[in-house]
Amino acid sequence: MEYKATDAQYEGWVISETAFDVRHLAKFETIFSQGNGYLGLRAATEECYGGERRNLFIAGTFNRFVNQEVTELPNAADMLQLDIRLNGNPFHLEKGTIHSYRREFDLRQGELRRDIVWEDEQGAQFKLRYRRFVSLQNMHLLGMRVEITPLTHPSDIFIRSGINGQMTNSGVQHFLEGDRRVFDKELLQLTATTSQSDIEFVHTIASQLYRSGSRLQTDPVPSMERRKVMLTYQADAEVGETIRFDKIASVHTSFDFDWNERSTSSHSLMAFAREHLLAAANKGFDQLFNEHEQAWQRRWKHISIEISSSDFFDQLSVRFAQYHLTIMTPAHDSRFSIGAKGLTGEGYKGHVFWDTEVFILPYFLYTEPETARKLVEYRYHTLKGARKNALDHGYRGAMYPWESAVTGEEETPEWGPVDIVTGTPTYIWTGKIEQHITADVAYGAWHYYQATDDQEYMDRCGYEIMMETATFWASRLEWNEERQQYHITDVIGPDEYKEHVSNNAYTNYMAYWNIMKAIECTHSLMQVQNEVYARLEQELSLTERLKEWEEKAQYIYLPQPDSYSHLIPQDDTYLHLQVIDLQKYRNQKVVASILADYSMTQLSEIQVSKQADILVLFYLLEDWFSKEVKAANWHYYEPKTLHDSSLSLSTHSLLACDVHDMDLAYEMFAKAARIDLGTNMHSCDEGIHAASIGGIWKAAIMGFGGVRSWEGTLRLNPMLPRTWDRLSFPLYWQGSQLQVTVNRDKLEVKRILSEASVGSKLREMNILIHGRPCSLTDHLIIDLKEGIPVE
Ligand code: BGC
Repeated sequence: MEYKATDAQYEGWVISETAFDVRHLAKFETIFSQGNGYLGLRAATEECYGGERRNLFIAGTFNRFVNQEVTELPNAADMLQLDIRLNGNPFHLEKGTIHSYRREFDLRQGELRRDIVWEDEQGAQFKLRYRRFVSLQNMHLLGMRVEITPLTHPSDIFIRSGINGQMTNSGVQHFLEGDRRVFDKELLQLTATTSQSDIEFVHTIASQLYRSGSRLQTDPVPSMERRKVMLTYQADAEVGETIRFDKIASVHTSFDFDWNERSTSSHSLMAFAREHLLAAANKGFDQLFNEHEQAWQRRWKHISIEISSSDFFDQLSVRFAQYHLTIMTPAHDSRFSIGAKGLTGEGYKGHVFWDTEVFILPYFLYTEPETARKLVEYRYHTLKGARKNALDHGYRGAMYPWESAVTGEEETPEWGPVDIVTGTPTYIWTGKIEQHITADVAYGAWHYYQATDDQEYMDRCGYEIMMETATFWASRLEWNEERQQYHITDVIGPDEYKEHVSNNAYTNYMAYWNIMKAIECTHSLMQVQNEVYARLEQELSLTERLKEWEEKAQYIYLPQPDSYSHLIPQDDTYLHLQVIDLQKYRNQKVVASILADYSMTQLSEIQVSKQADILVLFYLLEDWFSKEVKAANWHYYEPKTLHDSSLSLSTHSLLACDVHDMDLAYEMFAKAARIDLGTNMHSCDEGIHAASIGGIWKAAIMGFGGVRSWEGTLRLNPMLPRTWDRLSFPLYWQGSQLQVTVNRDKLEVKRILSEASVGSKLREMNILIHGRPCSLTDHLIIDLKEGIPVE
């Protein structure tokens, strides 16, 4: 693994695999994944190896194999595999001799390149160069190229390429077989339909062969097998002569937004896909690549963050995060959202968690509000399913699923990894009792509204989400006669090492916040008495609900900080549990090593946390807690936290900034930045950690850049770590585009004017900078001393 670019001008943009090692395939497949939010392609090599995971996912196309299983994103047909034979010998890196090997991933445009000099077992040497991209310009397309040059002997080159629909998700075949066709010995199609959701997939490829740059009119041999259609090409090459094979491939599905609007006839989807692919193939690899590259250039221009750090890895990791945030997010369609592994692996089956609202949405809110809107609309589309969940559990309103797909109904599997005490699979309780997600979704909708002022969203979707989630909590509260309070018992908070706890502080506070926000929204709607109010009053009986919320909210038990120690109990029992020496697990090389020694039941009896719990609350509801409380709880809980969830470190980094421990904040940022991209060669075999990727941005921009907002006011509390001299980033706030630049002694906020607004009078914007009200018209400079305004 190498992070330095061979060409110095691309420093901070390129990540390389410098030696082939079959044990590390999964790592590179994940981090070098390509995509565009519609299509996600794991970076499996063209030739096959044991242990590889060849995945191609199309966002939103969930299928449930049988009723006992949860729905998952099916693995589409493989269009990348190439069987190459050189003088009859299969090209395979576990045979022969590798003279040089380098696979480079270029974040500038997500291009994957592989250069190899390989000698077969008979002593003939070849140079092979592969290139691959998934188009950002045309979401259905991907392109690949391989160039083969014999270096020592003239060679007979065979390339077998096609569409392989024999793919499964760890053995589960989600598709019914469809059509296979060969057109003009150049274009192949294979269709398949998901077994339960009835989504038709049309895979199409067109390939061309060249010798020394000139197209070869070869006659490839077509073949078909079960769920497979192939073409075999053959060409001769002299020493030094290059044979090039270009392939353009596409996927379309009957679930596509751009297809849904046209027709539903399967034959015409095939024809549509064919026309689409032919038009692309006529442009050729180079032009398609250029268009794709330009789309990325435009994107980077819009989102680019600059960091001057003594460690160049910081800049690289933030770019890596922004690259993955782009390819994991279905910005084209709000019927589905971001999976916990994006579109990079089978892990978590493509399901959506609280990860989206709490860890990923902030990036889009402040960088690309139009995409943020898609993410919050998704929760509106799934409101119906959330209402059903509430009813199924005996509650009212909307109870959002812990794991969500397209309907909004619960999709958490029931059984998980082995329980080391009983030897049976562990029961997964999160789908039943990790209920804080409902308040997190409401928080996401509100946060979006505050950051964008998007009243249309609020009127059409947001208010309803606020009211329905508050109603869920009102029906969820349990009256405790003895304490004369409402409690919430038997839940899992963010710390999943504590199951069946009562009054998890995070859950109670967020439920309270949710109800209070619904009360506030209802009052403001009542004041305007517009048609939104009339509709919600009619559909939801707002006045009646308001009465219930107001009556109950005042009695919700909110665990208070101890007046001496400032500690807030994480739940009713945590502070009384046994304390053990956690050093071994805190120094672990592989996460969750404690599960090899303790079962989930045993973990519930020890003061040990999987991830940030109360601390997340300090970030979401920052004004509800004093600095002393934040610091005291940080110092108590962090040493008991194993950071066994990838969501943990970035939250800790951000909160370390709030307690002004910048060295620790940086140390945690640096660790968070290495969860996927670092040198642990198995940390992300199952796919990227989407929330951790969002967390890298959060730690950099909301932590060191100090970007926060509270009730519609933007706050900037920048504090650079010692290793950074400068941080510059784009920031969107309520319709305005800002460029924020922080140096050690100066903060500069510039308003970027759109063409339409040049010359027009700008509305003054109020920003709190380190707690001091400042007003911005078009440009603001504040003197800082070590990050704090100079008095
Ligand atoms: C974490 C959850 C998270 C989920 C998906 C779990 O390991 O504990 O907080 O939502 O992974 O990323």
